[in-house]
Amino acid sequence: MPYAHITGWGVSIPEPVLTNEDIAKMVDTNDEWIRERTGIRERHIAREDQFTSTLAVEAAIKALQVANLAPTELDLIIVTSSSPEYIFPATACLVQDQIGATKAGAFDLLAACSGFIYATNMAAQSIRSGSIKNALVIGSETLSRFTNWKDRSTCILFGDGAGAFVLQASERPGGVLSAVMHSDGSGADSLTLLGGGARHPATELTIHEGKHFVQMDGKAVFRFATRVMGTATKEALERAGMKLEEVDLIIPHQANYRIIETAAKYLKLPLDKFMINVDRYGNTSTASIPIATVEAFEKGRIKSGSKVVFVGFGAGLTWGALVAEWSGPIPTKKHVHPEQYRLFARLRSLVRRALRFIEGLFSRREL
Ligand code: ACO
Repeated sequence: MPYAHITGWGVSIPEPVLTNEDIAKMVDTNDEWIRERTGIRERHIAREDQFTSTLAVEAAIKALQVANLAPTELDLIIVTSSSPEYIFPATACLVQDQIGATKAGAFDLLAACSGFIYATNMAAQSIRSGSIKNALVIGSETLSRFTNWKDRSTCILFGDGAGAFVLQASERPGGVLSAVMHSDGSGADSLTLLGGGARHPATELTIHEGKHFVQMDGKAVFRFATRVMGTATKEALERAGMKLEEVDLIIPHQANYRIIETAAKYLKLPLDKFMINVDRYGNTSTASIPIATVEAFEKGRIKSGSKVVFVGFGAGLTWGALVAEWSGPIPTKKHVHPEQYRLFARLRSLVRRALRFIEGLFSRREL
């Protein structure tokens, strides 16, 4: 049975920064309150011309560059997002078209902030089963578009960004070692974005009622999160047959510094066993784990052979954890330039659109 290795990684962070002081000009809050309660100092906000797919594509290309893998070699693309570009088509299909992943299946996965763990596990299991060889998993968010900038209890929390992993099959042991995924829909009301779905299609009333914004019972989410972070970590480690002492780094979903602190206490681990960068990005939902992972790698906190735990929670309610041995690119003599496929992808897309148009002109209605 092949192993599923993480062989590439990349992020896309929009440049514009929104500080706590900036938010204090919009709502009744202040830097001290936000830092004390959440640990967040600033977050990045996508420009008007940047969308969930734009960030996803940038992160994907970087991940493919690290893996030294051509987009045409991908078998599967999973985009996980709490702010997908549309209900449909899937953001993953927009990415597939833009990067030129000509033979990849593509779909979106919705598990809120736990999405990256769910998606990585789905990709890894597809590789482990032997049905595919190369997968791209992306967490991408433009949550600022669903943030009520008049609601101080939520607008302080979220940020935009994207992160991606390439997963590849190899006979060498390692890679994704175990994962657990959980859900509890009885907590669905704790964190919602109600508008625009089939139950509350967009109307003047849904807009007036603010149903197109994130709504949250912060205290309920906080209690739930502190409960599940530690238990999921232990459960995933048990499945991998590993002890907590063997873990080099825990990379938690970056929602709130205090939640991570409480998880560390529960696990009786020092905080320096955790990667924390919520101060500079806020909560980027599905993108937070890969963004933190890439920073951990760049700072030398993980390297080939490191044992890492990813753990997260989110709306649904959902939560999960995944244990991996960090691999790195599979050695090969070939040298590919995934970014060069973008021009080819654009041309291909234009030709296919033109052919579809011509086909429409000449096709006869069949009864
Ligand atoms: N600035 C100043 N005061 C504020 C602010 C603010 N931004 N927001 C709320 N307050 C006030 C409240 O009105 C309240 O005042 P009151 O006592 O006079 O009524 C007081 O501060 C305390 O408010 P709480 O909501 O009780 O504050 P709490 O300590 O719970 O912190 C927070 C709020 C930061 C939202 C916290 O509950 C939290 O982090 N929860 C988890 C949220 C989370 O992680 N969500 C993402 C999940 S992942 C996903 O799926 C997207």
